Amino acid sequence: MAEPGKSEYSIRRARTADVPEIQKLIEPLVAQRILLGKERVVFYEAVQEFRVATLVDGTLIGCGALHVMWEDLGEVRTLAVSQDWLGRGVGHALLQTLETDARELGLRRLFCLTFEVPFFTRNGFMEIGEEIIDPVVYSEMVRSTDEGVAEFLDLARVKPNTLGNSRMLKLL
Ligand SMILES: CC(C)(COP(=O)(O)OP(=O)(O)OC[C@H]1O[C@@H](n2cnc3c(N)ncnc32)[C@H](O)[C@@H]1OP(=O)(O)O)[C@@H](O)C(=O)NCCC(=O)NCCS
Repeated sequence: MAEPGKSEYSIRRARTADVPEIQKLIEPLVAQRILLGKERVVFYEAVQEFRVATLVDGTLIGCGALHVMWEDLGEVRTLAVSQDWLGRGVGHALLQTLETDARELGLRRLFCLTFEVPFFTRNGFMEIGEEIIDPVVYSEMVRSTDEGVAEFLDLARVKPNTLGNSRMLKLL
């Protein structure tokens, strides 16, 4: 049986033309410091990480990205649903698609840094402490220039971004 409302929208890979809409969708969340703001060029560079939810008329109502961080480890980032569509299963459907992408890539663990603890808990994530990678992997990951990886590693320079967020993990 189809999920209620599911036939009204569909989920597909993002295209370059979606980037301005994705940015518009997350703008208020960035302003509230719920999501990390990024330059437009960074979204174009990451477009292959993104899935979007769209209505039949093409309107973009949600987005989410899967960022690979290590051999077995990925991060769900920039998961957002437009105000009008909250609580109708779009976030869940996007997350399920990102999890399928993660499994296909060979990932075993999905990380997320979020204020939305009940949503991610319902979707099988658990709150975790600081250390979930060994020191050798840490010493390699710390060379990344990606802000999200710095947040994952809880580096001092990104502490203002991570304040109040919960670190969550799902085993795939
Ligand atoms: C987190 C977020 C993406 C969830 O999106 P969403 O589309 O509202 O998520 P869902 O609809 O799947 O689930 C939310 C609620 O709707 C309920 N729901 C799910 N499907 C439903 C449906 N078909 N009809 C009615 N309610 C439904 C769920 O039970 C859930 O309720 P609960 O929160 O009381 O348990 C959204 O809140 C958001 O954009 N948050 C801001 C950005 C953010 O923090 N992202 C996470 C970090 S990257």
